[in-house]
Amino acid sequence: MTHKIILDTDPGIDDAMAILFAEAHPAIELLAITTVFGNATIEHGTHNALWLKQKYGMKADVAQGAAAPLLREPVGPTTVVHGPTGFGDVTAGEVSISADSRPAWQYIVEALKAAPGEITLVTIGPLTNLALALAQAPEITKLVKQVVVMGGAFGVNGHRGNVTPYAEANIHDDPEAADAVFTADWPVVIIGLDVTQQSFFSGAYLDALRDEAGEPGRFLWDVSRFYLRFYSERIGLDGCHVHDPSAIAYVVDPELFTLRDGPVRVIDSGPAIGHTLQKFDGKSHPHDEWADYPAQRVGVAVRDQALLSLYRETLVAWGKGH
Ligand code: BDR
Ligand code: CA
Repeated sequence: MTHKIILDTDPGIDDAMAILFAEAHPAIELLAITTVFGNATIEHGTHNALWLKQKYGMKADVAQGAAAPLLREPVGPTTVVHGPTGFGDVTAGEVSISADSRPAWQYIVEALKAAPGEITLVTIGPLTNLALALAQAPEITKLVKQVVVMGGAFGVNGHRGNVTPYAEANIHDDPEAADAVFTADWPVVIIGLDVTQQSFFSGAYLDALRDEAGEPGRFLWDVSRFYLRFYSERIGLDGCHVHDPSAIAYVVDPELFTLRDGPVRVIDSGPAIGHTLQKFDGKSHPHDEWADYPAQRVGVAVRDQALLSLYRETLVAWGKGH
């Protein structure tokens, strides 16, 4: 079975890991890469996406998306984690190809209308483009196959936040957009820190990828040096968590994850801004800001060793030919 996906991303070091995973896996047809602000400015993120497309001869369209959140000022690119232009120590070179002329939200709406029920939207950055698409064309909720989101943290396995004690970066970047996406009546699977911080690319794992996965393996090793320095210096770990590639892994093999059902809301003010909360117990309350919204699915456990094997085998098989 082939999964047609549009990958919405803020490239981004672990975004590059996810983009190549999606391109490499034979069960995924990567239709488009839509970009959003986040790890880098929208200009750098789009340039990075175009550079990868050109470098690896990818068929996917690239469409540029939002430069800022729906309502607030952007917090600014995450240069401390992803470097000055998003790819750590690597600077994307010149590109001779261009992005699609449409903004990302419009590209997404038109793609869903052209192939009803066929396309999975996978998001690995702030959810602004999807919220804009929903606002412009609410009927897309009935046209998408599913939405798979890397973002959020629900306190499962002890994971509550990475940019604040109670918020994950992609949701914290645009809480209103995330709440719009989670409360819309379409099927959403949320792969948050609860599971992405349970999987780990060790330094040795990335060394093996460099040695076994051809040029793409060497590129992933190069691009991850800055990221690993951040992990080593700020968190004291040799390696990195598997954030964005986990969303692609879910599309390929949902059995890797255990999910929990219930409506999800996002805190949009105060010290816990960007925190994600799922009501999963079905109890009734006199006041309930979850009650009117559809149940979404949140990842609560992952078979991490199987996920690591899937990623490595996919990249090695594909990378050897490049
Ligand atoms: C998420 O935030 C970004 O920095 C990463 O690319 C990932 O999408 C992890 O919290
Ligand atoms: Ca990302």
